[in-house]
Amino acid sequence: MMPDKHGYFGKYGGMFVPETLMPALEELKNEFFKATKDKIFKAELKRYLTEFAGRPTELYYAEKLTRYLKGPKIYLKREDMTHTGSHKINNCIGQALMALRMGKKRIIAETGAGQHGVATATVAARFGLKCDVFMGEEDCKRQALNVYRMKLLGTNVIPVTSGTKTLKDALNEAMRDWVSNVDNTYYMLGTVAGPHPYPLMVRYFQKVIGEEARRQILVKEGRLPNFIVACVGGGSNAIGIFHHFFHDKKVKFIGVEAGGRGMKPTMNSASISAGAPGSLHGSYTYLLQDKDGQVLNTHSIAAGLDYPGVGPEHSYYKDIGRAEYTPIMDKDALKAYDLLSKIEGVIPALESSHAVAYVVKNAKTFKKTDLIIINLSGRGDKDVGRLL
Ligand SMILES: Cc1ncc(COP(=O)(O)O)c(C=O)c1O
Repeated sequence: MMPDKHGYFGKYGGMFVPETLMPALEELKNEFFKATKDKIFKAELKRYLTEFAGRPTELYYAEKLTRYLKGPKIYLKREDMTHTGSHKINNCIGQALMALRMGKKRIIAETGAGQHGVATATVAARFGLKCDVFMGEEDCKRQALNVYRMKLLGTNVIPVTSGTKTLKDALNEAMRDWVSNVDNTYYMLGTVAGPHPYPLMVRYFQKVIGEEARRQILVKEGRLPNFIVACVGGGSNAIGIFHHFFHDKKVKFIGVEAGGRGMKPTMNSASISAGAPGSLHGSYTYLLQDKDGQVLNTHSIAAGLDYPGVGPEHSYYKDIGRAEYTPIMDKDALKAYDLLSKIEGVIPALESSHAVAYVVKNAKTFKKTDLIIINLSGRGDKDVGRLL
């Protein structure tokens, strides 16, 4: 499904930004559309995704988890096996090629879990771009390993001390920097949120996950899955795997949000399950807000899900019923983190553990013949330190 020319998926999306950013977004949009028609650009993208990022990633039959749950047959789409350890690298390679195409010498990014920051720092090193990453001070603490990795890769990490010192504050700072340095700076947004064309462009670079998964499941099982389950922060790994199945109406999409410590305000980051439409970071979408429309503080044990908004395409999917969005609590995500590590020898990121937890918790509600793909968006090495 394509948004309209102003970037609206139904009533969600748009470009709610300061006037100074409009020319930059228009330029980006025009270059992006040109790039998607450029054979050389597409060949370069494919080459780096293969040779640098290590694609295609496996669609792995989780045999022991399947047996343990005595239920549906479960496959894991192994984005954890990419270079840098999460799906974020797909988007960063694509956007680095965009920055080069547009002649920008400096890139900036926001990061929560640090996975997008590490992927950004990695492509900055690979393509010789100066790089500044904004990261909430709280996230710098809980993802210290990723801060170290970014610095090692030659990136300048700027701790953000405003607000809750998490992802939304990092995004605010990145946008503020972009407004002042728009001439020489490329803003590498890490998810399918933000103003048009980011939701569309990031989806374009992440849709490779679903393209591969669809091909792979047909080879391995000769049929499409009944369910695809993915965690949702801003929503890029979920849209990445959902997109290519959009017209397969029998394939049900489940987006798993961060239920944190419960559904009371400020206890979670479940923007769709607990939020309402409003405007955040340049886009009209579901977000967590109080009665006056003030954005609420959020909580999730998974830094990458700790964000009060969500990509506008998910808001649209929610309204048309194409996907179901549901929260998973911290404690259940932690149990799934432990279970998958012990039972499959795969340590999932805390973000991805939410998707695993959904399937574990609801195992009895599926049919034995059901086929499920869980998008394992990243590996959990980054989380090991803080859980010691
Ligand atoms: C491993 C992993 N999964 C999921 C997410 C959430 O982002 P998104 O919803 O854009 O996929 C993050 C964000 O940092 C992440 O690091």
